[in-house]
Amino acid sequence: MMDEFKEIITKDQQVLKILGVAGKIATSDIAVLITGESGTGKNILAEVMHNVSHRNKGPFVSVNCSAIPDSLIESELFGYEKGAFTGAVAQRKGKFELAHEGTLFLDEIGDMNVSVQSKILQVIETKTFHRVGGEQPIYADVRIISSTNKDLIQKVQNDEFRMDLYYRIREILLVMPPLRERKGDISLIAKHFLKIFSKDFGKKIKGISNVAMNYLEKHDWPGNIREMRNVIRTAVALNDKDVIWLEDIPLRTEFSTPETESARQTVKFETLSLSEMEKRHIDQVLQFCGWNKSKAANILKISRPRLHRKIKEYNLQEKK
Ligand SMILES: Nc1ncnc2c1ncn2[C@@H]1O[C@H](COP(=O)(O)OP(=O)(O)OP(=O)(O)O)[C@@H](O)[C@H]1O
Ligand SMILES: [Mg+2]
Repeated sequence: MMDEFKEIITKDQQVLKILGVAGKIATSDIAVLITGESGTGKNILAEVMHNVSHRNKGPFVSVNCSAIPDSLIESELFGYEKGAFTGAVAQRKGKFELAHEGTLFLDEIGDMNVSVQSKILQVIETKTFHRVGGEQPIYADVRIISSTNKDLIQKVQNDEFRMDLYYRIREILLVMPPLRERKGDISLIAKHFLKIFSKDFGKKIKGISNVAMNYLEKHDWPGNIREMRNVIRTAVALNDKDVIWLEDIPLRTEFSTPETESARQTVKFETLSLSEMEKRHIDQVLQFCGWNKSKAANILKISRPRLHRKIKEYNLQEKK
């Protein structure tokens, strides 16, 4: 399996700016809050920030605050001593302790209950804590990165999130933009996943057809990059051709806009006009030949000038 989790693929100005900030604060322990819709890359950004930081020799420890029940979160974060409660048969270290000299990533921090918030605040301020059932204070040197897709300001206003903790964890706020606001990234990231999954599944898929790419670019991507990853993964898994066509793309139409739906109407072969078929076919052959026009003209059994006219007529473009 290729390692797809450590790299942020982008040419979007907003995201590049965020990466620039990550670089600038690499040697400081400034607390960073990452917000953004689900699937925009908050986790991957946190990991990248750790990897470029001066703590990168230390551990990156992640806690998903929404996945841990309230009754367990304290022992998860701070650990416990043997005998602290029924079932505590041995001492266990918590995430704060495990993250010593590294980064502690508090994922989905918006879902943490208020009493745990108070404890976290105290630990951040004093850098010390007690294991559950423990008497000795324990020192942990951690840098905190947090993330949420909730509106924390709203939560502060509703008394569901402590304002003092909010300011503690957001010395810098980074907002990951949704994929629909970084249209330029769509084809770039689609090709990235195509490469990864073609390799993973042992397939030799050369590219994504223009029509299909057009469709991807029009889609709204409510699930952002995670949705894109899954769509391309499925398309590659199901595909046994050289090129991914529109009909190979398993987009969930319940989220479609009218615009993408009208593009979708052309999916069925039977409904295609002759010129649309010709356009697709020429596009596919060109991709197959890596845009070597002599080869393409040879396969199509037409002259090169005629191919050039067709390329112009259909406005076909090489997709890198
Ligand atoms: N720019 C990118 N380039 C390549 N892969 C990316 C990029 N952004 C995100 N991914 C991938 O997309 C998937 C979702 O990203 P991630 O888990 O970081 O999102 P998230 O914002 O934390 O989502 P959630 O709010 O649901 O936890 C992951 O597989 C991640 O590796
Ligand atoms: Mg996440």
